[in-house]
Amino acid sequence: MDFHRGDQRGRLWASRSDRTPGPTRSTAPRTDARTGRLPGAVRNTPSPNHPALPSLNASAGQSCSRSGTTAASRHIPQPVPPNDVRKPSHGEPRRLHAYVLGSSDEEVRRLIAQSAQLRPAAEVALDRIPIQPGWRAVDVGCGPLGILDLLESRVGPSGIVIGLDRDRRTIQVASRRQADRRGGPHLICKVVDVRADSALPVTGADLAHVRLLLAHVPDPERVVRRALATLRPGGWVLVQEYDWSTWSCDPHLPAFEELRDRIADLWTGDVRIGRRLGALLESTGVVSVSTNTIRHPAAHPKDDRYTLLLHFTGVIRARLLAHAPAGVEPFDRLVDAVRRHLGQPGRRITDPDLHQAWGQWQAR
Ligand SMILES: C[S@@+](CC[C@H](N)C(=O)[O-])C[C@H]1O[C@@H](n2cnc3c(N)ncnc32)[C@H](O)[C@@H]1O
Repeated sequence: MDFHRGDQRGRLWASRSDRTPGPTRSTAPRTDARTGRLPGAVRNTPSPNHPALPSLNASAGQSCSRSGTTAASRHIPQPVPPNDVRKPSHGEPRRLHAYVLGSSDEEVRRLIAQSAQLRPAAEVALDRIPIQPGWRAVDVGCGPLGILDLLESRVGPSGIVIGLDRDRRTIQVASRRQADRRGGPHLICKVVDVRADSALPVTGADLAHVRLLLAHVPDPERVVRRALATLRPGGWVLVQEYDWSTWSCDPHLPAFEELRDRIADLWTGDVRIGRRLGALLESTGVVSVSTNTIRHPAAHPKDDRYTLLLHFTGVIRARLLAHAPAGVEPFDRLVDAVRRHLGQPGRRITDPDLHQAWGQWQAR
């Protein structure tokens, strides 16, 4: 899908957007997630505005056609177990190498709920980018929803939104959620592993977004470069990631942080990456980089987020059990201590800070 070749409007937009002045380099203050204020390929229903889409590069990702996914999208298939628990070489399990949480019904539901929770934060960052109607926007590692809906409302009926994810089932859910809309922008969802060597199916886009993917990969810089490769020169990139080191509970419990760090050690990537997003973008050729940090309100026992760390323990425990059984007992003791603590009245969870960084890609 090349927005330059064979897509006249893509070319026009690219040159028009190139004249858009970038923001001044800044580090914005923390934003309140409640108020959203700074205190400072499944191809969707064609619209009349899009009689023809740019051609898709079939070798660079599998598209789900609408007809091809209708049956699958009527019901969500059975959960698949978390994947890629690899055999360790010396007792201690190596880090996981795929999306550790899989694409079970529960995980799909969790990600969709999380998208709703993170919506105000995403809006804050999107407000800082001069998105124009008709833009082509890519959500890399979009999950079952990501910010596809927000991008659609920003680019309008003349725009195109592309969701890329390596998980076929996730892509089917993302497509289904949009399939009933009429008259909106085109939505194209494709099964693509952004870490694979093959060419990505999108070039010349105006905006690339990556959220909560970099912490799941061992090579975040490469993934950022791959996301940038979808852009036209001067195109915008927005990345959003947590920093787990700010994840805690109140009243304070050392076991919570110990468990958090134990899980972090075995995670796929760097779960503290949020704090270095600005530097990461700058190191990959992004200019006019701005950053922002979102602190969420404390999670109550009824919030999904209250038990999220305990939820993650299931994946890690199975892994320990399979590959380092000696580590299971101390791990279970930590889990029990945290569970008992959170079972008491008056407890709260402080979510990890969500960091955002955005800027414009300057091709070198
Ligand atoms: C934590 S979820 C975040 C989903 C979405 N960005 C959001 O914020 O709701 C991470 C997503 O990245 C996808 N993913 C992981 N590794 C990937 C890869 N190499 N290429 C494409 N997608 C990947 C997973 O399948 C999963 O849907």
